Amino acid sequence: MTARNIAPATGKLGVLTPGLGAVASTFIAGVLTARQDGVAPLGSVSQMAHIRLGTREDDNNPLIRDFAPLASLDDIVFGGWDPISANALEAARTCGVLDERDLAPISSELEGIVAMDAVFDQKWVSRLEGTRVKTETNKWDQAMALMADIERFRVENDCDRLVMVWCGSTEAFQEASEVHETVAAFEQGLKDNDDNISPSQIYVYAALQSDVPFANGAPNLSTDLPCMIELSASRGVPIAGKDFKTGQTLMKTLIAPGLKARMLGLRGWYSTNILGNRDGEVLDAPENFKTKEESKLGVLHKILQPEVYPDLYGNIDHVVRINYYPPRGDNKEGWDAIDIFGWMGYPMQIKIDFLCRDSILAAPIVLDLALFMDLASRAGEAGVQEWLSFYLKAPQSNGEHDAEQDLFIQQTKLKNTLREWMGEQPVTHSEAG
Ligand SMILES: NC(=O)c1ccc[n+]([C@@H]2O[C@H](COP(=O)([O-])OP(=O)(O)OC[C@H]3O[C@@H](n4cnc5c(N)ncnc54)[C@H](O)[C@@H]3O)[C@@H](O)[C@H]2O)c1
Repeated sequence: MTARNIAPATGKLGVLTPGLGAVASTFIAGVLTARQDGVAPLGSVSQMAHIRLGTREDDNNPLIRDFAPLASLDDIVFGGWDPISANALEAARTCGVLDERDLAPISSELEGIVAMDAVFDQKWVSRLEGTRVKTETNKWDQAMALMADIERFRVENDCDRLVMVWCGSTEAFQEASEVHETVAAFEQGLKDNDDNISPSQIYVYAALQSDVPFANGAPNLSTDLPCMIELSASRGVPIAGKDFKTGQTLMKTLIAPGLKARMLGLRGWYSTNILGNRDGEVLDAPENFKTKEESKLGVLHKILQPEVYPDLYGNIDHVVRINYYPPRGDNKEGWDAIDIFGWMGYPMQIKIDFLCRDSILAAPIVLDLALFMDLASRAGEAGVQEWLSFYLKAPQSNGEHDAEQDLFIQQTKLKNTLREWMGEQPVTHSEAG
């Protein structure tokens, strides 16, 4: 196979996050700690996983980061926007994910990452009161202001390249409308202050017009709109979405493929969570929870293929609940009650009680998405990066077909994409390591 001509990762890579809350501050703190102490960024596939090249007999398993020309952690600079957090240190202290002893050695660096004023509208996130908000009221002017922020950040930090990962709150549920059909309609809508245009969509527009790849970590409608797909193609910029695959959905995409592999039936899957961070508070509003619910519910159907296996998966009750419960903060507890059936239809049950830490699971995903989106851009990619579905709860496909949801098929696709770009043979069966 011929390797792609990938531009080298020279100079600085700016990682911009709209939203400087729990996930973004935990991500930044982890990268700063990893490079200060030389510790491994745990959970990051780009930094810790190996990739097998050739046959097993070749015994050639380099680290992904030694194999693909990724940006070095030392070359990352951070920036972001937030309507509430003043800087990354304040954000980290407010969300309470990391202990003070972990924040102390990097506190001045975190404090130096000052949030830019956000494009924010409470209509889309009713539970939050934003104060650090741009004064422009027209949406076109807001987009121009974001583009000016991006350019200023690029110059002031001497960045060679930028990427953007949405780490902002989940916006209220919305269906795509006419204003989202084409770039021309969207631009007119910005000028007309169209009610259907949400803040996150203005960030995507500003990023793509600035040639900055954009990955969406929340379930909002943004990169998955026709106008944004058109813009990413015409500007030649990669996009990816949506919704970081952490916690309960990660468990679902681990277990459901196993049940299907063994032809065990599923009658119902009841998932409930308690969560006490700002994300939980935002999702306590029914219109914001609906956005999340849609993203979470799609997973089982796509993995289990009831249309192919109606006897096993044609009659599933799938319920997802999130309850806001402040005492737990970011330490979510997710319960799953799974009703399965086997030989001669006999029922069985599986119970999961996952005491996880939301932002600890999400932070390495932000790092990997940022590094791989930057790689995709240097490899000449534009449009939807379906090979990054591995990280996303409701992965966006780059065509009419549905994107793959099975974590292990997604992993193979991710690694095979890297192999292909680097001129190596793909591996067609599951591989260890
Ligand atoms: N942590 C996880 O496991 C996980 C998994 C999947 C998706 N997500 C999503 O990631 C996002 C971030 O999660 P979090 O736990 O950091 O939440 P958080 O509430 O701590 O942080 C979100 C931040 O976004 C800010 N914000 C809101 N609207 C904004 C706007 N228009 N522009 C810029 N900033 C804005 C808020 O002020 C807040 O500080 C949420 O949408 C969440 O649903 C998180």
